Amino acid sequence: MTTPNASTITIGGDLSVGRIGFGAMQLTGKQVWGDYPDRDGGIALLRAVIDAGVTFIDTADVYGPHTNEILIREALHPYPESLVIATKGGFVRGGYEYSTLGAVGNPNYLRQSAHMSARRLGLDGIDLYYLHSGQAIDVPFEDQVATLAAMKDEGLIRHIGLSNVTLEQLKAAREITSIAAVTALYNTSNRTGASLLGAAEEDGSVFSPWHPMGIVEGGDPERIIAALEPIAQNHSASRQQIALAWHLHRAPNMLPIPGTTSIEHLRTNLAAASITLTPEEVATITALVPEN
Ligand SMILES: NC(=O)c1ccc[n+]([C@@H]2O[C@H](COP(=O)([O-])OP(=O)(O)OC[C@H]3O[C@@H](n4cnc5c(N)ncnc54)[C@H](OP(=O)(O)O)[C@@H]3O)[C@@H](O)[C@H]2O)c1
Repeated sequence: MTTPNASTITIGGDLSVGRIGFGAMQLTGKQVWGDYPDRDGGIALLRAVIDAGVTFIDTADVYGPHTNEILIREALHPYPESLVIATKGGFVRGGYEYSTLGAVGNPNYLRQSAHMSARRLGLDGIDLYYLHSGQAIDVPFEDQVATLAAMKDEGLIRHIGLSNVTLEQLKAAREITSIAAVTALYNTSNRTGASLLGAAEEDGSVFSPWHPMGIVEGGDPERIIAALEPIAQNHSASRQQIALAWHLHRAPNMLPIPGTTSIEHLRTNLAAASITLTPEEVATITALVPEN
């Protein structure tokens, strides 16, 4: 698919994008609810993302809900030819509290979600459409995947992705259709998605770690900082840049999607792609948290 130092990665065999994408979720209201308060700033940030050469943006209908996709369209439509927008469906939010988050697998709901995402984004077809979670229990998981497969056959979506599924669900989905990308929580301090990373790598599909900048979360931040800091100093880089560089070295199918509301952070995050870590540095960071 790609080499560890390649500057691009290919999704589904035909969509080539840069190795570091952009996660747009932060461009919403507090708790990912409602509009991003600084609309002009959000539009400027999204345009800076494109100007900086990013060719992959990750969003979802539930970010806002809807406001994130709408802002992307306002800022960037008509889109550059090279831009791939990945969006997701299957989650619902009943209100401001995160506790109102739920998952729906009803085929007509998933179909409506994809149609409405395409409409909001101003697209005829969605390049990469993720089932946002494997949590819905109103419909068997396999039937939800089959709904996405049907939308792919119809041309509404080009490639199918799975978000936050179990390894068993990924395997079951692969029996039904091809899965171009998997996204899950995976960073220097949390390896929840490790088994999915391995399975995606074996199958030649992209793994997009979400929350890649969550570098010192969990129980032992001092130990993680103590490991990252000397590596950062070796490369005259920040810990955040080292974390992103580690993602790129960790596996050739990695497509991290750091989110930021800061143009300065955007630039430094993208610069991490040119940091070359030693095998020992990669191994040190990988060993910080167990992966199995
Ligand atoms: N599939 C899913 O269920 C799921 C769940 C969560 C997220 N996601 C996706 O993953 C993307 C990224 O996740 P995320 O936004 O939760 O987390 P993230 O990208 O790991 O972290 C974003 C946070 O890091 C800060 N940051 C970014 N670059 C920085 C830098 N160079 N130095 C210091 N701080 C920096 C940002 O603050 P500033 O704004 O100040 O830079 C922001 O607070 C989201 O946008 C979304 O597209 C997917």
